[in-house]
Amino acid sequence: MSVLPSTHPGASLCGASPAPLVRARALHVVPEARTLPTVVGSGLRVPTLHGDTAYANLDHAASTPALETVKAAVDRALETYSSVHRGAGFASRLTSAWYEQARAEVAAFVGAREGESVIFTRTTTDSWALLSKALPSRTTVFVFGTEHHSTLLPWGRFRTVRLPVPQTVEDAHALLEEALTDHPSRHRLVVVTAASNVTGEVWPVERFAALAHEHGARIAVDAAQLSAHRTIDLAAWDADYVAFSGHKTYAPYGAGVLAGRSDWLDAGDPYLLGGGATRSVTEDGTTWATGPARHEGGSPNVIGAIALAAACSTISRHREAIEEHEARLLGRLRAGLDEVAGVEVLSIFGDDSDRVGVVAFTIDGWDSSLVSQVLSVEHGIGVRDGKFCAHLLVDELLEDPWGERSATAVRASIGLGSTLEGVERLVAAVARLVEHGTDAQWTITETGWALEGADPRDVEVERPW
Ligand SMILES: Cc1ncc(COP(=O)(O)O)c(C=O)c1O
Repeated sequence: MSVLPSTHPGASLCGASPAPLVRARALHVVPEARTLPTVVGSGLRVPTLHGDTAYANLDHAASTPALETVKAAVDRALETYSSVHRGAGFASRLTSAWYEQARAEVAAFVGAREGESVIFTRTTTDSWALLSKALPSRTTVFVFGTEHHSTLLPWGRFRTVRLPVPQTVEDAHALLEEALTDHPSRHRLVVVTAASNVTGEVWPVERFAALAHEHGARIAVDAAQLSAHRTIDLAAWDADYVAFSGHKTYAPYGAGVLAGRSDWLDAGDPYLLGGGATRSVTEDGTTWATGPARHEGGSPNVIGAIALAAACSTISRHREAIEEHEARLLGRLRAGLDEVAGVEVLSIFGDDSDRVGVVAFTIDGWDSSLVSQVLSVEHGIGVRDGKFCAHLLVDELLEDPWGERSATAVRASIGLGSTLEGVERLVAAVARLVEHGTDAQWTITETGWALEGADPRDVEVERPW
């Protein structure tokens, strides 16, 4: 077994970890694999009112299952698990090397350019919290009302220009252009989401990056809903920062990523103060590290980083097959829902816009939280209902011409754990609900909808530990 050279001359001092070993765009050329990667738990059967059935996982926008390759990488890494940048033993040396190689794999996955930082965080929410702490003081932030709350809200201590929910891409472009013209400032950051967690619509990030740069602003891209489905490419987009989450990218081991330009990150306040984030600590003061270490105080989540790297590697190798699979399922889901009377699919830019496999819809006369319970209990289908932490957007999209609001929507979201059979089952279940009502008797209680009689999901399942 070959191990990379020790990456951390000051390990025993608990000081800063060094600059990443590799910051190159691609680690290796990976041949495209035509097969679909498999996820852990793909054979899951779930209890329903009508007996056990295969679980139809249509809830990938919330969290994805783990890939088999991710689980295998984690199992392997656990065999030699040890500290990162804190030990001279063989296992620590190996684990430290893998941590930095994981960083390089993620750098390639996001199309990071030479000298850019890839920082391991916990989630997208955590990544934006980190970036918001590192922004120069008096930065003006521009953000659309379409955003997920974790991308909308963390800029509170800065002057924030909140843009309304646009009706078209052109509208969004014009709104942003006007706002950038009207709000000059030395440091400006535009924040946009690459794919909406409500409608799945894909924003043309390159256009917004070009616009931001024309006005001397920077752009940060929320790729939480893109990372598992489409290519992230900081260089091709000419974007400045990107964030995404491992648990939405088939690597649910607690790691997320913030990647992008190093200057603000190296100058901003360290995110987590403590061991690993320092260059030196004396009675006279502390010198903080630069590079990812500045923000990764404490022992890093190396298992999360390795899991994420494994997911990035697998997704990159199977890119075409993944996109084909999802396009096929999404096409069937949208066509099927289109045929059911009373179903409205939510959209910002209109029916023809490019989308990842996320479809939020309402059914005329049906409460969305009852619909999602019925889909689970009566049909073994997992979806989500609510406002999906994007209240401004959902409120805007659900407002009817008379000003009345259905409060919430149902969201079906596709990924590698979804099958065509599952999609067909959802379409048939929605059509059945509209035509015949529910199979069971349901009542509304203080805590939501409840079955009259025993809930088949209330089964004794052994704890995993
Ligand atoms: C578009 C978008 N951004 C950000 C987030 C927040 O991600 P996390 O919960 O992993 O921090 C989500 C989560 O649903 C999302 O869909």
